[in-house]
Amino acid sequence: MRTTVGIVGAGPAGLLLARLLRRAGVDCVVLEARSRAGVEGRQRAGVLEQGAVEALRACGAAGRLDVDGVLHEGFELRFGGRAHRFDVAGRTGGRATTLYPQHELVKDLIALQLADGVPLLFGARVTALEGLDGGRPVIRYLRDGAEHALECAYVAGCDGADGAARRALLATGTARLHRRGYPYAWLGVSAEAPPSADELLLAAHDRGFALHGMRSPTLSRLYLQVPAGTEPDDWPEDRIWAELEARLTVADRPLSPGPISDRCVFPLRGEVVEPMRYGRLLLAGDAAHVVPPTAAKGLSLAFSDVVTMARGFAHWRRNGSAALLDRYSDHCLRRVWQVQYFAHAMTTLLHAAPGADAYERRLRASRLDRLVGPTAAAAEFAENYAGLPTEVPF
Ligand code: FAD
Ligand code: DHB
Repeated sequence: MRTTVGIVGAGPAGLLLARLLRRAGVDCVVLEARSRAGVEGRQRAGVLEQGAVEALRACGAAGRLDVDGVLHEGFELRFGGRAHRFDVAGRTGGRATTLYPQHELVKDLIALQLADGVPLLFGARVTALEGLDGGRPVIRYLRDGAEHALECAYVAGCDGADGAARRALLATGTARLHRRGYPYAWLGVSAEAPPSADELLLAAHDRGFALHGMRSPTLSRLYLQVPAGTEPDDWPEDRIWAELEARLTVADRPLSPGPISDRCVFPLRGEVVEPMRYGRLLLAGDAAHVVPPTAAKGLSLAFSDVVTMARGFAHWRRNGSAALLDRYSDHCLRRVWQVQYFAHAMTTLLHAAPGADAYERRLRASRLDRLVGPTAAAAEFAENYAGLPTEVPF
């Protein structure tokens, strides 16, 4: 099989890229290791930056999002036994985030792609990328127990942090992997319980961070800071609700508990592959970088990469010039490091570091205190939380 751009991975990055390339008249094929049900059932992000929503709208992929997505103009920060509303829109000239679950977005993009007739092969696990420094790379993959090859002009590595594309790029010895681990993880659960608030609740408690989110009027999504290496089974339902109560409740605002339907532990880490390109291979999304989820940035950052990449491919196809593709990595890395900085700062601010002494706890409290006032610190935080300016696709 042959195509122009071989896309590895049908997560949000690979699927949006396929949509943008089709609109730019650039052929592509998407190879995805999981089944369609496996991809559509993967619980992840809930929050999209305004720029990500605009990118989806610009390429006709926001039909259902515009109906079911819920605009969030702020969130509530809880610490020291008090609740403080953080007004994002009021501090950014009206910018807001949208709550729309990642797996619903993935369903929308898959449906569009199948309707567009862009080849999307599920159950196709990429095993090797060859000839990346020549003009005709080959993607080798396994499907139905047989080996196959896809010849292309470029490879877009959108297969996440543990995928074949990042591995292949690092194996060339031309890139560096920057990595920061944290001594804590998130226990994420879905609860059949009406959300206890209309906006996200984020708690910076001495017992640890907690986050209360929502999926529908009857389904809540909750996260608890737990030690790295925690097993989900160590957390029976009663213990989860007791800990959420201890960290999140403030006077007169109890949580509405309910049965927990799934639980998963997510390690927290920051990673950047630098540069994000080698020869004919370009990485995007989690394949290139991972941010700790506290600031809700990974998916929007992935979209920002693929908008830039698609612009580069469109320019190359129209003008025969690879100039934009050559600048792709430098262009993306600027934003990647700014987002990496913010996600790291928000993570260390809101999580309780194991072994922190009273001095460190007081430093954290004083920073939180600045954030909830009418300060430049709050304006800077709001600008980052709402999302740095993005390119809108063509
Ligand atoms: P992925 O979603 O990882 O997709 C990669 C795809 O490639 C997968 O479908 C995988 O099966 C496939 N693949 C892997 N290996 C191969 C192979 N060898 N061959 C073929 N296919 C392969 N971000 C936000 O913006 N907002 C949030 O609110 C938010 N919340 C989060 C909460 C949690 C708990 C977590 C863990 C993350 C959160 N994120 C959030 C981050 C966001 O989910 C990721 O950044 C996003 O999934 C990245 O998309 P991607 O397409 O780059 O990678
Ligand atoms: C959700 C996930 C996040 O990482 C976050 O920071 C806020 C909300 C969610 O799943 O709703």
